[in-house]
Amino acid sequence: MLLPPGTTRADVVARERAHVWPPYTASERHEGVDPLVVVGAEGPWLHDADGRRVFDGNASWWTCTLGHGHPRLRAALHRQAEQLMHVAAGGITHAPVALLAEELAAVAPGDLSRAHFSDDGSTAVEVAVKAAFQYWQQNGRPRRTRFVTLSGAYHGDTLGAASLASISEFHRVFAPILFEVIRPPALGEAGGWERVFEQVFAALDERPDEIAGVIVEPLVQGAAGMQMYDAELLRELRARTEAIDTFLIADEVFTGYGRTGAMWACELAGVVPDLLCTAKGFTAGVLPMAATLATPRVYDGFRGAADRALMHGHTFCGNPLGAAIAREVLAIYRDEAVLENVARMAPRVAEAFERLSAVPGVGRVRTCGLVGAADLGDGGYGGRTGWRVFEAALERGLFLRPLGDCVYITPALNLTDDELTFLLDALDASVRSVMG
Ligand SMILES: Cc1ncc(COP(=O)(O)O)c(C=O)c1O
Repeated sequence: MLLPPGTTRADVVARERAHVWPPYTASERHEGVDPLVVVGAEGPWLHDADGRRVFDGNASWWTCTLGHGHPRLRAALHRQAEQLMHVAAGGITHAPVALLAEELAAVAPGDLSRAHFSDDGSTAVEVAVKAAFQYWQQNGRPRRTRFVTLSGAYHGDTLGAASLASISEFHRVFAPILFEVIRPPALGEAGGWERVFEQVFAALDERPDEIAGVIVEPLVQGAAGMQMYDAELLRELRARTEAIDTFLIADEVFTGYGRTGAMWACELAGVVPDLLCTAKGFTAGVLPMAATLATPRVYDGFRGAADRALMHGHTFCGNPLGAAIAREVLAIYRDEAVLENVARMAPRVAEAFERLSAVPGVGRVRTCGLVGAADLGDGGYGGRTGWRVFEAALERGLFLRPLGDCVYITPALNLTDDELTFLLDALDASVRSVMG
């Protein structure tokens, strides 16, 4: 795997520093740090410009659930590109998107049988929130304008999604231009997940006529630092939302597609939401595409005159290339028993983190499916210990981008025993080298 002819690694870095504006990185840092220059990737491995291979410990921000360069995904992309690459969704359809919608309905929890396609996790969330809001506006409950979120919520960076978040590092500066939501205090301040959910239930009891919906990351909150809560709390939340007949929105952008052990984290709690957002694993990181799934009840709320239509759409809604890839992803999950692989590997991840918990200085550890996380200090998102482990891991051929002081792994879900052994050994050695 090579750089384009006539281009050196130094050329790439110089142009990156001169012209790229990367996410979440202050300008001096961007211009001063020597980045990993990737020229290709296969399975869980990234190949850098110096010919070194580095294990992708977070599956490229939780997305490449089937690793990199899966031959069937490459072939599906090629096949679809030969036939139809893009066409607008208004008044036009095509087989990839229609068949994908049917296949999604078959794997979705309960009766989530309608799919609205968009571009990424944030847009999938925007669609769910706007659909819930508009539903009540035109179906007899116009006072239902407010959303409830969990402590530590993260649902994306567009303004609507950012309004729902409670991680201040991400969104503090935008506070004056975000809409108001009902959010419980931070997890630590509230005194644990039971207390957080009690506050959510109290909000539902106090304002049943005002709540358009409750949005949650089911069971595992990624960006909050891999925070995990009990399935029982999610079940109780479903019961409480049903009791006042409002919507439960499950943001499965991170947790969906087998990450937590089932196809959807909601299934682990036996819960069927009214709206479900999926992205990331939805195309296994091949193309940016997402879906918001809805029940017939929600969809039926948009029948009638033209102005009752869901007022949302994107240029690439249902792009044929993305849809063909998303279909192939579902086929690979079936044919290659990806969920079974997660079930086989998850106990090894749990054991590895249990061992890490004995290392002095390592705080709380937790795992769920192929998510494993350890807190290495109390610096939270701004902490630097996680970044010292990042450096130590990179020296060992492992890319382990932390969330501040939370070091975690979210590897490809189809990794082999040997690949998992490499990952867990390198993780263990890196943590011990920093904490020891
Ligand atoms: C739970 C959740 N929702 C939404 C998003 C936003 O997705 P995207 O970055 O694709 O817009 C993320 C991203 O990490 C996420 O973890």
